[in-house]
Amino acid sequence: MTAWLITGGAGFIGANFARMAAARHAGPLVVLDALTYAGNVANIADLIEARRVQFHHGDICDAALVDRLFATYRFDCVVHFAAESHVDRSILGPQPFLRTNIGGTHVLLDAARRAWNGEAGRRFIHISTDEVFGDLEPGDPPFAERTPYRPSSPYAASKAAADHLVRVWQRTYGLPAIVINCGNNYGPWQFPEKLIPLMILNAVEGRELPVYGDGLQVRDWLHVTDHCRAVMAVVEKGEVGHTYLVGGDEPRTNLEVVSYICRAVDGALDRAPGTSEKLIRHVKDRPGHDRRYALDSSFLRGSLGWRPLEKLETALPALVRWYLDHKDWTDAVRSGAYRQYYERQYAER
Ligand SMILES: NC(=O)c1ccc[n+]([C@@H]2O[C@H](COP(=O)([O-])OP(=O)(O)OC[C@H]3O[C@@H](n4cnc5c(N)ncnc54)[C@H](O)[C@@H]3O)[C@@H](O)[C@H]2O)c1
Repeated sequence: MTAWLITGGAGFIGANFARMAAARHAGPLVVLDALTYAGNVANIADLIEARRVQFHHGDICDAALVDRLFATYRFDCVVHFAAESHVDRSILGPQPFLRTNIGGTHVLLDAARRAWNGEAGRRFIHISTDEVFGDLEPGDPPFAERTPYRPSSPYAASKAAADHLVRVWQRTYGLPAIVINCGNNYGPWQFPEKLIPLMILNAVEGRELPVYGDGLQVRDWLHVTDHCRAVMAVVEKGEVGHTYLVGGDEPRTNLEVVSYICRAVDGALDRAPGTSEKLIRHVKDRPGHDRRYALDSSFLRGSLGWRPLEKLETALPALVRWYLDHKDWTDAVRSGAYRQYYERQYAER
């Protein structure tokens, strides 16, 4: 029975991955999460209640804690999602990004190196972003595994630094590590400060839909379950030392995405077509805002047989329905009440 450590498993992608792992992996699953504003233990409460996931409230920068977890559970695999992840927040205050994304990754790498000490059959999967590559001009080819790093935001720079550390720990110390760089994820349990949930909730409530600048920034959208399937394939069959790029092959401008959302919300609420679109308002652009990201996932597709199954335009109506059906969750997240949830449910256990 091999034990897996999932860092950041109370966040958006980590929680979706923990669900998939609980269904597919028979061994123990341990989530380590500091429950920052973005972490919400309610995202995996059912897995904890069912004792399918062991939850540890703690910081990946705490070396003594991380060492203790390695000694207790003898992990075979680390899937490292924990990060400060919001670009706008990194522009307002970079420090927590440098601390967690660089310092925390370093702590995990060192703990894994010491615990595994060259033993076979171990895996350290580091989840990173396409934002490390900077942006593309309209005719440029998509990012590939060997595209040079050119980050534009403190968030992207901190993830780039972490990726470099992971590759160095693999090359210099022989740590069995793999890096995954993926595009913009969307799906259930996403904190509503990110574009898609924010726009869904604002449109549902008839509030303005603030679009940065001209809204023509292009992102490669990836459904979170497609991303988690890719991570699972890399855990099971990925080659140590390789980098895997995961894109949904769905380049869309932010304005297109918001329009799809408006249509999906109007449909779900039986509103006249065009009602939500009237709420779109262009606001001042983010400084250093990247214009275009696109990813070439052909290595992942060819070597591990992965391909995305979801399409943005058809997945969005179901996602709108998910947010409508999980109003308690979104209300708690937005009011901050979710922060007391952990204390109420778990602090005394
Ligand atoms: N969301 C995306 O579209 C996207 C795209 C590309 C890459 N990524 C990467 O995927 C990973 C997960 O992203 P997400 O969107 O789920 O992020 P998220 O912000 O929703 O979740 C991050 C989780 O990490 C936890 N965390 C933060 N600091 C911690 C610390 N010091 N110790 C322990 N836990 C800590 C938070 O509490 C939270 O639960 C990140 O590494 C991010 O860089 C995300």
